[in-house]
Amino acid sequence: MTDIQIMDEGRALRVGESRFHAIWLRDNALDPETRDPGNGQKRITLNDLPDDPRLSAAEAAGDAVLCTFAEDGKTVRFPRKWLDAHTYDRARSETVLPQTAEIWDAALSETVPVCALGTLQSDRAALRDWLAAVRRFGFAKVTGLRAQSGALFDIVDLFGYVRETNYGRHFEVRTEVNPVNLAYTGLGLQAHTDNPYRDPVPTLQILACIENSASGGDSMVVDGFAAALRLRQEDPEGFSLLARYPARFDYAGEAGVRLQTRKPMIGLSPDGMLEEVRFNARSSAPLVDVPYDAMPGYYRAARRYAQIVDDPDQQVAFKLAPGEAFIVDNRRVLHARRGYSGEGSRWLQGCYADRDGLYSTLAALESQT
Ligand code: FE2
Repeated sequence: MTDIQIMDEGRALRVGESRFHAIWLRDNALDPETRDPGNGQKRITLNDLPDDPRLSAAEAAGDAVLCTFAEDGKTVRFPRKWLDAHTYDRARSETVLPQTAEIWDAALSETVPVCALGTLQSDRAALRDWLAAVRRFGFAKVTGLRAQSGALFDIVDLFGYVRETNYGRHFEVRTEVNPVNLAYTGLGLQAHTDNPYRDPVPTLQILACIENSASGGDSMVVDGFAAALRLRQEDPEGFSLLARYPARFDYAGEAGVRLQTRKPMIGLSPDGMLEEVRFNARSSAPLVDVPYDAMPGYYRAARRYAQIVDDPDQQVAFKLAPGEAFIVDNRRVLHARRGYSGEGSRWLQGCYADRDGLYSTLAALESQT
């Protein structure tokens, strides 16, 4: 009795509950001709695949399956564990949330992921857990930084590289006369994602505090995915409108800079999974891609999303002390600042970095344990 069965005249294979197409098996063969055993890179192209690959034989061999292809008699060994880990013949869940993400609201205030810089630098398990929290919540704090200019780069050095932009390698967030950006005033700023006018958008933002003796000026973060799912539950059609039609964002605050994008407020992958939110009142340009008949519904949904973002039940607020910093996934988590007075001083520095580099460092750490 075997649970291995060739199907569809050799065009597919059943192993237990999972079916695999012969062309998929051939493309993903684990032999050294197909994939380099050293660096794991593929050695064939799609054009190297037979037109209509078929299996002529398949049999169990210990904890693996041996597949023989009819065209050239090539036999390839697939460990069952590997097949299990890579099955695509499974029920698709209705969830729109990435598997590694967990949505949150104001209750996260009690358990904000936080770690001291020195611990992150010296303890790989602590670094792994902190990076995993960034992946899970899109937000985490760091304490124990030097309260000095440039200290924020120590955080980026934990996992990757700074992404330089028109604002420089880093930017100063302190009150300025004639600011190029409203961030550089004492005004409160509604929760937003940064630089929605860029493509690709900066994926991580770090804000570190050097001085904060002004009254007010608290920081606040909101899970943009949680807000999107709440909108979807309340108004599925409105959610679809924000995902279906591009918004427009622009920034022209400096001479020689005219950044413009055409991106939806809620970005979904082709199979409907939440990929990003872009939400920034200051950078919103006129909507010209929403059809006339859809515009009222679009505004209704966008305004409802804004109300959800402004709901204190969704928000985690805190005041950064000198030597403290936070990181946000800028494709997911919105950040805000409450207004502050001219008394005392408030000096933060911000920079951007790449999320894929953070995920890469995390995956490498996870594979070591
Ligand atoms: Fe910002």
